[in-house]
Amino acid sequence: MSASRGNWGGGYVTDLPYLPGYYRHQSPIHLDVACLLGGVAGLTLGPEAPLSYLELGCGHGFGALALAVCNPSWRVTGVDFNPAHTAAARALAAEAGIMNARFLEADLATLANTSAAGEIPEADVATLHGLWSWVSDPVRAGIVRLLAAKVRPGGVVMVSYNALPAWQGAIGMQRLLREAGERVAAGSDRRVEAGLEVVSALTEAKAQHLRGQPFVESLLDHTRQAQTAYLAHEYMNQAWRPCFHADVVAALSEAKLDWVASAHLLENFSALMLSEEARTVIARFEDPVMRELVKDMCLPRGLRQDVFVRGAHRIPPAERDAALGEIMLALLCSESEFAWDVVVPSGQATLERSFFGPIVTALARSPQRVSDLLALPGLPRRENPAEVVGMLVGTDQALPMLGLPAEPDARVKQFNAAAAKRFVHAGNLNTGMALATSGSGAPLPCPMLDLFVAARLQEEPAPDPAAWAARLGAGRLEAEQERLSAFIARLLAERAPIWRRLGAVAGPAPVTY
Ligand SMILES: C[S@@+](CC[C@H](N)C(=O)[O-])C[C@H]1O[C@@H](n2cnc3c(N)ncnc32)[C@H](O)[C@@H]1O
Repeated sequence: MSASRGNWGGGYVTDLPYLPGYYRHQSPIHLDVACLLGGVAGLTLGPEAPLSYLELGCGHGFGALALAVCNPSWRVTGVDFNPAHTAAARALAAEAGIMNARFLEADLATLANTSAAGEIPEADVATLHGLWSWVSDPVRAGIVRLLAAKVRPGGVVMVSYNALPAWQGAIGMQRLLREAGERVAAGSDRRVEAGLEVVSALTEAKAQHLRGQPFVESLLDHTRQAQTAYLAHEYMNQAWRPCFHADVVAALSEAKLDWVASAHLLENFSALMLSEEARTVIARFEDPVMRELVKDMCLPRGLRQDVFVRGAHRIPPAERDAALGEIMLALLCSESEFAWDVVVPSGQATLERSFFGPIVTALARSPQRVSDLLALPGLPRRENPAEVVGMLVGTDQALPMLGLPAEPDARVKQFNAAAAKRFVHAGNLNTGMALATSGSGAPLPCPMLDLFVAARLQEEPAPDPAAWAARLGAGRLEAEQERLSAFIARLLAERAPIWRRLGAVAGPAPVTY
């Protein structure tokens, strides 16, 4: 029996809506940085410059809407075939008064061949997160036709997918989970639970292809905290098939797309990813596809985030450095929270204090251009903007932006309030979301709890952590309420100044309560 209600889903889960979420690697500003790190020309971006953004398989449209709110001059289009998703995206857009985003209900298998495709503007940027490896060959072919028809020459595309060989040991686990689930006559939520139960029982029974497989064991650990809707969309789709990078590159070349970089920025620095021995192997090859295969053989990560350009234009190092120098960065933490040591696949990377110290101090005061940071007095070197951008943005400690943050305008306030009202509940406080901001063009990534607290702060400038915790945690134990209240108080002290500094919440004054 198919996992979908009716059979319009072609084996994709349609009876259980997906979760909202924000993924920073889909932001055109982030993708521009990835292109430059890959040595190719990026996008023409500016605080008021127009840009057309297309998201395929956009779910609830939260990410697309956050980008639209932060960038009133952009035109945003989201496509999804699940009417529950499209309706939710349109409802949030209407509630927040967003006029520059549209959501189309359409099946990507056929959209390119229909008149509805004519309504989609030519895209400067198109993204697909969590779609490619979860859909069938006909849907993938339809996606390629749509990208061929809609991405402008020089446009940028980001595709994320479950990668091989990392997932090879988990193919059996997914099959067992899905098949066991499909034998239960119920909705996808009950099916995924039933499937997981069988996988757990067989893991306990030390099944050869489940026990002792580090990747499978880490997936099973992750399932214990994950929400049911996530698990259903991850594991219950009939056509799910992880992919080799080379095969995705070959498929997208039909749309004249060239692979240029990883949107996981640290992956563009081999020294951080590979041991010295593996680097001597990768050095034997110039072909980037072959180099990525060597990398994929070594890295534990299961999700690739590939960036493509339609007609990539390689630029000389001086031009690339000049473009990287123009990027404005904002610090996402306080100076004291900054992490100097970062665990990376090749071991531990330490950000050198003599170089990054003055940079972090300057950024703690206000967002700055990379070229201004490299001109700070006393730096031991000044010539490597890729290192500054790659390390600060790649470790999620800085956010690239288009202009200086401003006091949040009415649209931003309305969106943050509407999103908090719609999405926050006691069971999803860790989900990765974002706050819309004014001035910078960049949504501020944050957990769901931050969205709740920031939205409350906007409505009740005199904060009451205990009352807010009670409001959130209806039915929770008293001790849990107290923990939540203390956590909210900490957010108000530590995060609220950053929300204010980056244009997500009004008022320059520090929070007191
Ligand atoms: C795993 S979800 C990812 C949603 C969103 N990109 C995110 O990461 O939060 C995949 C999305 O693709 C949509 N989808 C799957 N097959 C599709 C198809 N053939 N045409 C259009 N949308 C499809 C699903 O409805 C779902 O919203």
